[in-house]
Amino acid sequence: MPDAPARDWTPDSWRSHPIRQAPAYPDAAKLAETEMRLSRFPPLVFAGEARRLKAALALAAGGRAFVLQGGDCAESFADFTANVIRDSFRVLLQMAVVLTFGAGLPVVKMGRMAGQFAKPRSSDNETVSGVTLPSYRGDMINGPEFSAEARAPDPARMEFGYFQSASTLNLLRAFASGGYADLHHVHRWNLDFVARSPLAERYRDLCQRIDETLSFMAACGMNSQSTPQIRETDFYTSHEALLLPYEQALTRVDSTTGHWYGCSAHFLWIGDRTRQPDGAHVEFLRGVKNPIGIKVGPTTPESDLLSMLATLNPVNEPGRITLISRMGADKVLSRLPPLLRAVRHEGAAVVWLCDPMHGNTVTTAANVKTRSFDAILSEVQRFFDAHVAEGTVAGGVHVEMTGRNVTECTGGAHRLTEADLATAYETNCDPRLNAEQALELAFLVAQELKARRTGEPAAPAAAAE
Ligand code: PEP
Ligand code: CO
Repeated sequence: MPDAPARDWTPDSWRSHPIRQAPAYPDAAKLAETEMRLSRFPPLVFAGEARRLKAALALAAGGRAFVLQGGDCAESFADFTANVIRDSFRVLLQMAVVLTFGAGLPVVKMGRMAGQFAKPRSSDNETVSGVTLPSYRGDMINGPEFSAEARAPDPARMEFGYFQSASTLNLLRAFASGGYADLHHVHRWNLDFVARSPLAERYRDLCQRIDETLSFMAACGMNSQSTPQIRETDFYTSHEALLLPYEQALTRVDSTTGHWYGCSAHFLWIGDRTRQPDGAHVEFLRGVKNPIGIKVGPTTPESDLLSMLATLNPVNEPGRITLISRMGADKVLSRLPPLLRAVRHEGAAVVWLCDPMHGNTVTTAANVKTRSFDAILSEVQRFFDAHVAEGTVAGGVHVEMTGRNVTECTGGAHRLTEADLATAYETNCDPRLNAEQALELAFLVAQELKARRTGEPAAPAAAAE
């Protein structure tokens, strides 16, 4: 029965499991007091919303919806403004419209927003000019500045993160239902983007077809006044459930079902560095009923993946599990197919998403972390190819992007080079696609999806130069 509670689970049962990536808080009493206060704060999301998202993801698992998950690598306390939130939301909506058209399917929209504040790091410490300090772990844990004070984990940051998430979510809800997300606006923004793009020719056809469709619908009486689906949208929040003291404090019993939900976001995922089947993060997520994600990297053993599926979704409830493949463009064709086969053989109902960002990070000669647009696009294309070859469903994409005009990833229509990266390199963590690169990716993926669906060529040219 999908609704049975997890056995021998409590919100704090993760504490008796081995944990990775946990910050070393210097003041344990302050941590405990903060957790206590947080556990009395109102939940940020309602369990019914998480169930609605799970139902939408169940459609995606069966190939009847496409998922777009995107946003910052790490949200920032310093960059907490209405414009930053609005711009990311707007670009995600713009991407969703073209993907809806390309896939011919509803697009489930999830932001890496309103809670994406905790980061796993490859090293516990960072050394600069002979000085060694704890690594930056995300604004909810410590500060990015390289000073002993900023880098000391401070529990007060969890509370600030909670309030920033509440405030971000409030604005997102207002945008999603208050008229900002109207399909006609979103389409107009896309027309502006296409008019400005050096690759306008490639995108014009798709945009014109959407234009004609909207005119046709209006002629049939489907407009913003008559049709709520044109005026409003569903938008969900998600983040990596890394900082378990925070996640535990935001865990609540849903009064309508009596089940536990992680109420810090609708969707929570386990990162590639904390996916040990017997580890604390798997244990925590086992007991909450939210839809959950698992990052699947090139070193994920097949046996670990199957064991996590058994632990996290023992009754094979569709929509419960989303597997987020992040292999790298050069590895996806060798590493992904055996996992697709193993999961299919198990009969597990999962959504497969492609995260083409985390396997394609490179460091330039000037020691700057970047990703190339071409590698990102080819990982997505190869991910689709792998699914076609295995007869499985490619359920969507997961990207790190921002609505701002940053210069963090190379390539794209404006052909950003490594030398351009210094112009506006603003990320606190991984390099993100800027607004134009994110939209280009959506247009190219939409053309590809449409071509695969209809057998028409991905005209005029789907591949990057
Ligand atoms: C992330 O999504 O920001 C991240 C750290 O990813 P991964 O766990 O796949 O490395
Ligand atoms: Co990242």
